[in-house]
Amino acid sequence: MTDIAVVRLRCEHLTDPLGLHARAPRLGWVVQAERRGVAVSAHQVLVASSADLLAADTGDLWDSGQLPGAAGTLVPYAGAALASRQAGHWKVRVWDEDGRCSAWSSSARFEMGLLDPSDWVADWISVVRPPAGEPDRKVAPYFRSEFLLPEEPVTRARAYVSALGLYDLHLNGSRLSDDVFRPGWTDYDKRIQYQVYDITDRLRPGPNVIGAVVGDGWYAGDIGMGKREVWGSWPELLVQVEVDTADGERVIVRSDAAWAECGAPATWLATNGPIVSNDLQLGESYDARLELGEWSSPGYDAGDWKPPFPGGGPVGSLSPTVAEPVRRIEEIVPGSLVEQAPGTWVFDLGQNMVGWCRLRVSGPAGTTVTIRHAEMLDPDGSIHTANLRGALSTDHYTLAGTSPEEVWEPRFTFHGFRYVELTGLPGTPTLDSVTGVVAHSDAPTAGTFTCSNALVNQIHSNVRWGQKGNFVDVPTDCPQRDERLGWMGDAQVFVGTATFNLDVAAFFTKWLRDVRDAQLENGAYPDVCPRFGRSNPPAAPAWGDAGIIVPWTLYRRYGDIGILADHIESMEGWIDYLHRRNPELLWQHVRGMDWGDWVAIGADSPKDVLASAWWAYSTRLLAQAEAVLGRLAPAKRYSDLAEGIRQAWNDAYVKPDGTIEGATQTVYALALRFGLLDEHLRLGAAARLVADIEDRDGHLSTGFMGIAHLLPALTENGALDVAYRLLQNDTFPSWGYSIRQGATTIWERWDGWTEESGFEASGMNSFNHYAFGAVGEWLYETVGGIRVDHTAPAVVTIHPRPGAGIVWARTTYPSIHGDVACSWALQDGVLTVDATVPVGPSAQIWLPAPPGAAVTEGGVPADEADGLTALPSLPEAHGWTAAAGTYHFMVESR
Ligand code: BGC
Repeated sequence: MTDIAVVRLRCEHLTDPLGLHARAPRLGWVVQAERRGVAVSAHQVLVASSADLLAADTGDLWDSGQLPGAAGTLVPYAGAALASRQAGHWKVRVWDEDGRCSAWSSSARFEMGLLDPSDWVADWISVVRPPAGEPDRKVAPYFRSEFLLPEEPVTRARAYVSALGLYDLHLNGSRLSDDVFRPGWTDYDKRIQYQVYDITDRLRPGPNVIGAVVGDGWYAGDIGMGKREVWGSWPELLVQVEVDTADGERVIVRSDAAWAECGAPATWLATNGPIVSNDLQLGESYDARLELGEWSSPGYDAGDWKPPFPGGGPVGSLSPTVAEPVRRIEEIVPGSLVEQAPGTWVFDLGQNMVGWCRLRVSGPAGTTVTIRHAEMLDPDGSIHTANLRGALSTDHYTLAGTSPEEVWEPRFTFHGFRYVELTGLPGTPTLDSVTGVVAHSDAPTAGTFTCSNALVNQIHSNVRWGQKGNFVDVPTDCPQRDERLGWMGDAQVFVGTATFNLDVAAFFTKWLRDVRDAQLENGAYPDVCPRFGRSNPPAAPAWGDAGIIVPWTLYRRYGDIGILADHIESMEGWIDYLHRRNPELLWQHVRGMDWGDWVAIGADSPKDVLASAWWAYSTRLLAQAEAVLGRLAPAKRYSDLAEGIRQAWNDAYVKPDGTIEGATQTVYALALRFGLLDEHLRLGAAARLVADIEDRDGHLSTGFMGIAHLLPALTENGALDVAYRLLQNDTFPSWGYSIRQGATTIWERWDGWTEESGFEASGMNSFNHYAFGAVGEWLYETVGGIRVDHTAPAVVTIHPRPGAGIVWARTTYPSIHGDVACSWALQDGVLTVDATVPVGPSAQIWLPAPPGAAVTEGGVPADEADGLTALPSLPEAHGWTAAAGTYHFMVESR
């Protein structure tokens, strides 16, 4: 047996998913080895219908046998057809380059969902309610069903659940899971997700209770900019519990509305409870005096509960969940508390965050505490709420007065805030009266980055927090004001960075489904996905292009061809739509809201120049995607089209001397990065870009469109030092300037707050907007030195580029193939680099080495080191192809 281990088993990018619909779910794993040079020569997958069979090494569903090759990412299941509810318990072993076999991995599992609509026997249920609660905000109904189970042991039990709105599921006296905001946000006219919970161990013989509290959520509440009740006015619930017992029987407990027609006693009951109003954006109000006690426990007296009514059900179809849920992820305790005005207490959490507060209070029954949330303070120390626009972000808690301390968290709302204001408190609060509960999509943590420069580390932290706060089931622009929408432009600008911070393969797979659902029949994407209300105007340049750039970026990072395959027709639809409307190959028509280089600072890039630049770029990416899929005729067609657009763009906007119309940083950065210029104009364009930055005393001017490309364009064109300067600026405008003003997240605008003018117009001034955080990718790739790109000459490239006084950096990234790491340090003119290459992908290591420098690895000349094969040197760097393993380099100038 060999010393290698097979770990991190995943299915469709998820750990042990339940409720799959993919008929050939894709399995992935990682091979770990201590020894350098390990390569996998063969693998074997076993999939069994039970854990016992798998333990006996019997793959009754699929035994792949020993298959040649190192496959390990996204291997399609190729066993017996998978039926609804079918469980697959699976494990893997591999053989190394010498034909030695690993131990079996530990086991993982997947389970199919309800594949056929006829599998569903539950009814949608609802309550008809008079308007109640505060204006625009509605009470959240409670539902329960008490059911009897036989004495036979339960062998398998599942709850299949969905809601129009949001549900919070309870079983036998407690919450069933820590998921929040289920079933998630989709275009409910097209699809509605359901979830599957394994409740086998939570049931008992005799009486059991399943119940749910149901909130308005995106379905029936505010979704931003004054739009509310877009898909419906009243939430509904769908529950189907299936309990298999040892005697082979199946007990089904289902939300059921048929009682009324057949005169049978109702199996479900509903009532109003303490959540007297709820809304994602406005806030939640809870009256603890109305608590229902042990309402989800058996034997509870539900005498005054009423039978629910039949719901209308969704227009869209029930669809599997393909991404991680939103969960509570961490907690933040406030660092300070002041009484800003008599009876008005302001807590500072020290971090702009997204989620809600847990409140601890005591006092007399009927006292109402009001909790308001804000990202910033006004000059008088009161909370700054002007930038929230219509999002009240206000919660109320009314005390029951029955216990010495009452602890409460809302469950159907979230806010973006650093500061919390409490009013109406009976006494004097303490710091532990408030705890910030951070919630976001529970995509696994991915990369880490840290370096010797505190400002750069804070930029990285702000970028991460921007991602956490805005990855709440869909990628949103901002989490605080009445917007919080899946803006396409923001997503495409940030997706590269996003893949480094968190493993977002599943998250974006889900969102791309939303993107396809939102696409118009003529191929146009809208600016916002899921659709923002029922109207769906065509997207602006760079916003619609997210439909191409996001799947392409996911392919590059995760090597997931399936994402491209699922999306390719949609991509063609977008490009064909633009082509039909712009046969002259300049994007002059259908530019939608034409946002331009949104929130650029002190520069105005001509919108037509930008539009066709994006079109040429997207079309080229589409051609590449076609080629990856082996669709050669369309690859050729789109490649020709891309070249045609590029030519037209040059003819229209580039002067013979290489000046580009508008001459802004953004137009030069895009031209360089998108490969739009004829080769002989490249250097000149780079020089003009640098000159513009110098004219601004070393400052940037780019908005959303340019930001992801500015530092890479400089780096790739010999101006690494200028890129570092932009990164490390702390004068206006720069990331560092916002940090000097106390920013703990990335701001929407460079001038969100300035010493001269204070707050920028509050109509559009978010302090947690990730788009300018697109610099994060450059931190990982250039400072950190880790690149993972399935379209590059090597999938994994390690190439640190030290600069600007940073003397060390440590970066890790758990790629789909395994862990990549790069740590470097500069001391006394000697550069040391520790680099880790995972087992499997092609890899190169490049080290900056001045001419004549000596590069050793583990004490021997690197060119002779085990696992390294020298590549032709570049003027400033030495490179090697690298086998799997960890390397210790030293670069000494002679
Ligand atoms: C959003 C942006 C979005 C933009 C469109 C704004 O209101 O917050 O992030 O991309 O509109 O330009």
